Amino acid sequence: MTIQLNIYRFNPENDSKPYMQYYEVAISKKGMKLLDALNDIKWNMDGTLTFRRSCGEGVCGSDGMNINGVNGLACITPVEGLKQPIQLRPLPSMNVIRDLVVDTTHFFDQYRQIKPWLQAYTPTPEHERLQSPEERVELDGAYECIMCGCCTTSCPSWWWNGDRFMGPAVLLQADRWLKDSRDEAAGERLDQLEDAFKLYRCHQIMNCMEACPKELNPTQAINHIKRMLLNRQS
Ligand code: SF4
Ligand code: SF4
Ligand code: FES
Repeated sequence: MTIQLNIYRFNPENDSKPYMQYYEVAISKKGMKLLDALNDIKWNMDGTLTFRRSCGEGVCGSDGMNINGVNGLACITPVEGLKQPIQLRPLPSMNVIRDLVVDTTHFFDQYRQIKPWLQAYTPTPEHERLQSPEERVELDGAYECIMCGCCTTSCPSWWWNGDRFMGPAVLLQADRWLKDSRDEAAGERLDQLEDAFKLYRCHQIMNCMEACPKELNPTQAINHIKRMLLNRQS
């Protein structure tokens, strides 16, 4: 048994334009994932095929790609059940460095802008800053985000206004820090997000939620930030 794939190829050093390349890979095991197929191609057929991967287990967020028109992680996508030939393209709306590898510089620049770390001004306790189990539960649905970019690159608002709109992944992370009981910078964080473009370009189309391989809900997080901004005005 084999699977067929059509994979986007583009090496700016040699190619004048992108093209799709056809491969056939043997199904090597039950539950075979798309990343297994890509590794087989790279290691046994065509070493020039270029893609990112690291953990192989849906944790590092590096192998986000567009699979049959839907963004996802190759390492946790079973090949079984995918329409063939499987069409593999890089994440949309990011510049392609080579084949399935996109330039994430702007995405992570935006992430840095929200200061994704604990900010606390009260004196540091002798041991750690404590959090009750109830306060910790507030972070469920946000801490699991692996910054794979599948949501942000499926968001039409980010496609058109990505220079200013932060996009769902970064806003989910912003909400994660707003919800953290140990963080003391909510005021500054909200000041930074209160902007016609950074936050309010989300039009609730919800592509982001459908694209998330971790089944997170960035739209809900964006709405929560909007409610926090509203509440502090009243
Ligand atoms: S709900 Fe908002 S962030 Fe999510 S895809 Fe739509 S516009 Fe983008
Ligand atoms: S919210 Fe989901 S899709 Fe978006 S970056 Fe996080 S894990 Fe990836
Ligand atoms: S290789 Fe790490 S998430 Fe897929």
